[in-house]
Amino acid sequence: MRAVVQYGSGGPEVLKVEDRPEPTRNPGEVLIRTEAIAVPFYETQLRSGLLPAGQPSIFGHEAAGIVLDADDPSLRGKRVVTMSYTGGAYAEVVAASEYTLVPDGLTSAQAVAAAVPASVALALIETADVEAGETVLVEAASGAIGGHLARLAGRRGARVVTTAGNEQADVDHRDPDWRQKVPDGIDVVFESIGGPRAGELTAKLAPHARILAYGMLSGEFPVFPVAGLLARGITLIGFGGPDAYGKRVAAARAEALGLVADGTLIPVIDRTYPLAEVAAAHARVESREGAGKVLLSPALRPSTPAPAA
Ligand SMILES: NC(=O)c1ccc[n+]([C@@H]2O[C@H](COP(=O)([O-])OP(=O)(O)OC[C@H]3O[C@@H](n4cnc5c(N)ncnc54)[C@H](OP(=O)(O)O)[C@@H]3O)[C@@H](O)[C@H]2O)c1
Repeated sequence: MRAVVQYGSGGPEVLKVEDRPEPTRNPGEVLIRTEAIAVPFYETQLRSGLLPAGQPSIFGHEAAGIVLDADDPSLRGKRVVTMSYTGGAYAEVVAASEYTLVPDGLTSAQAVAAAVPASVALALIETADVEAGETVLVEAASGAIGGHLARLAGRRGARVVTTAGNEQADVDHRDPDWRQKVPDGIDVVFESIGGPRAGELTAKLAPHARILAYGMLSGEFPVFPVAGLLARGITLIGFGGPDAYGKRVAAARAEALGLVADGTLIPVIDRTYPLAEVAAAHARVESREGAGKVLLSPALRPSTPAPAA
């Protein structure tokens, strides 16, 4: 089968497409012929070496496709989506111990575009316990998780303030002083940008506000002054690691996919690349030029350049 293998840390060129033996499945695992593979933002940070990562022989974490084999024979032919911590998703065939059935009516592309972002957003909203009438700040609402967060918070009756790198958002986070432009009285912050200036948001928070720190899009962890949090009764919740992922996010996955199937949450797909163009797919995510998820499709063949005139 064809698969993408990572050779060291660095730019998109460290990802190479190779022929590899198909995986065999252990008891409890399903074997999946992949139809769509996600290229989430955090994978660009894993590839570059910014986030600590082992070097799996085959790269990638999120895929959807058709079950080829499983302990339960009735699963064969069913469409599933999987998230793996140990890599192996950028391939034509994947063996997975964790998987969720894709609801009828959703394609593999829609399922893999939404499964992780929508379940992270749902788990974050539930952890924050957002209530009607609260004011919620969603950073990077142009991103997959941010977009779902804004929608889910709005459904709970919250007033949503968004940041993004465009004029449609309430606050344009390309401005280095964007935190000064956030309105006062924020009850909940979904913090994904990070960096040394994150603490400037503390002055914008209502007493007893909650900050959910779940990302580092800027490449740096957020820094909050403990004195400012303490004096104002603010709760800082670090949302990451095996507990968040292994338990809360996975537990939210089936409900999140149901919200996609019923049209409550909408997966936005920017571009789909053949496996052979994996480096271009990573470059696209890093460029921040697109709106929506970047995917890989093993069935897609590289475009043949037009013959010279
Ligand atoms: N804790 C968890 O369980 C968990 C799980 C999955 C992902 N994450 C993290 O959640 C964050 C969002 O992930 P995602 O999949 O939603 O990403 P995404 O769909 O790729 O969206 C990211 C958005 O962030 C903005 N952005 C990119 N670089 C930025 C920067 N340097 N400063 C400010 N904004 C920037 C871009 O918006 P503009 O172009 O509009 O600026 C982009 O649309 C990432 O940090 C990811 O690692 C956390």
